[in-house]
Amino acid sequence: MSSSPEIRILTTPQELFAAAAEEVVRSANEAIAQHGRFTIALSGGSTPKNLFNLLATNARASLPWDRMFFFWGDERHVPPTDPDSNYRMAEEAMLSKIPVAAGNVFRVAAENPDAAAAAEAYEQTLRKFFALAPGEFPRFDLILLGMGPDGHTASLFPGTSGLQEKSRLVIANWVEKLKTHRLSFTFPVLNAAACVTFLVSGTDKAPALHSVLESDAPGEQYPAKLVHPSDGKLIWLIDRAAASQLAAK
Ligand code: 6PG
Repeated sequence: MSSSPEIRILTTPQELFAAAAEEVVRSANEAIAQHGRFTIALSGGSTPKNLFNLLATNARASLPWDRMFFFWGDERHVPPTDPDSNYRMAEEAMLSKIPVAAGNVFRVAAENPDAAAAAEAYEQTLRKFFALAPGEFPRFDLILLGMGPDGHTASLFPGTSGLQEKSRLVIANWVEKLKTHRLSFTFPVLNAAACVTFLVSGTDKAPALHSVLESDAPGEQYPAKLVHPSDGKLIWLIDRAAASQLAAK
């Protein structure tokens, strides 16, 4: 039964990242106590970088890295060495600084020039790791998400075909305005998670955040609205700048 979203407004970006780090530590220790491992899907873009730095420094001692398994909720269609790579950002900000085995890190092979094949391969990686039966969706312990100024999340952009996907786990979503494919989890995967946590920072996100949280605009227009874990928690960690147009600020 999906619970109503928890919306937390933090005064500064630093407080936002500290709250996010606490959430990761809490979620990790809870999952490991319950079932011996913690599966986390990382978000990309710029916002999570400070969180990753915090996890690799201040929170480093509080996390059982050997029982943590890292995935990505979306990836740009570029090699892992590319400056745009979400994997590269996480590698530089966190993974290269923590004692995690290479076998615990499942990046998207986005260097594959065939985006559809890269999506299919990552879907098979998820099906194998979670030992899924046909039609089953993986239950991540935690999925981190961001939101763009246009209300997109993961790489599920307004008006793209990926918004309608009901059975695939990972898609190559063509994004006309970026003239590229993005590799992305689908909504069924996002909404099968035990916990989804959004990190939203900055005034440029305020109009879309108001539309997502406080308007009856369609999800087609603001895809982040379509994230509602069916049997899990939804947490919005927002800084004051991003919350500036919320009535409930
Ligand atoms: C990506 C992301 C994307 C991101 C938003 C916000 O690959 O770009 O996963 O969904 O979270 O675009 O990006 P910023 O944090 O850079 O504002």
